[in-house]
Amino acid sequence: METVKSTNTWLSNFFLNIGDEVLAIKQTEGKGRRGNTWDSDYGGLYFSLVSPNNKLLPFITGISVVESLVEVKDNIQLKWPNDIIINGKKLGGILCESYGNYTIVGIGLNISNNILLSDAISLKDINYNLDRLDFIYSFKLNFNDNLSLSSEKILEKYTKLDFLIGKKIDWNKGSGIVQSIDVDGSLIVEVSDKIVHLYSEEVSIEKY
Ligand code: BTN
Repeated sequence: METVKSTNTWLSNFFLNIGDEVLAIKQTEGKGRRGNTWDSDYGGLYFSLVSPNNKLLPFITGISVVESLVEVKDNIQLKWPNDIIINGKKLGGILCESYGNYTIVGIGLNISNNILLSDAISLKDINYNLDRLDFIYSFKLNFNDNLSLSSEKILEKYTKLDFLIGKKIDWNKGSGIVQSIDVDGSLIVEVSDKIVHLYSEEVSIEKY
């Protein structure tokens, strides 16, 4: 589509089957996580698809995005729960929204759009020219492969990519050292010799 409010919202209204997908050139009301807006001007990638439910879907999507950015994948990391990071800055984000038996998976990637935030980066900034349709083709192959993996295997892949593991983080209610990711998708953090689990719906990481 040329312009849509949000590819996630559009699919939530009109999808019929698993695998239905929408790519937009521009969004006018792009949505981020936790009720944030997502800058969605020309030059970015705004893509959503309908997936079966899976509690590790944000990780499956993140891993599949990294695997599809073939030429730069060794420089990309994921930041729990679902930011895509390059050179320590945010290259893109993932928004998974559940509707009964289905989840709408939305991906936003900065390609050649102008970046408004100092902690964000685009592929243009690292001289990588990404063809959106090639990316989507490759993403869907990787996504379907990763969907069929066991939770253990998904976590094994994810923990190799996660940017926060081993780092000290501050969140809205505390601070600690990130140890790992649990099979329920929570972040395992050591806080003064105790282990706590952070859930993405409940916390917002403020410093890392
Ligand atoms: C985040 O990091 O906060 C998640 C951003 C997700 C943005 C994408 S762009 C395509 C899809 N449609 C939306 O409205 N949001 C997601």
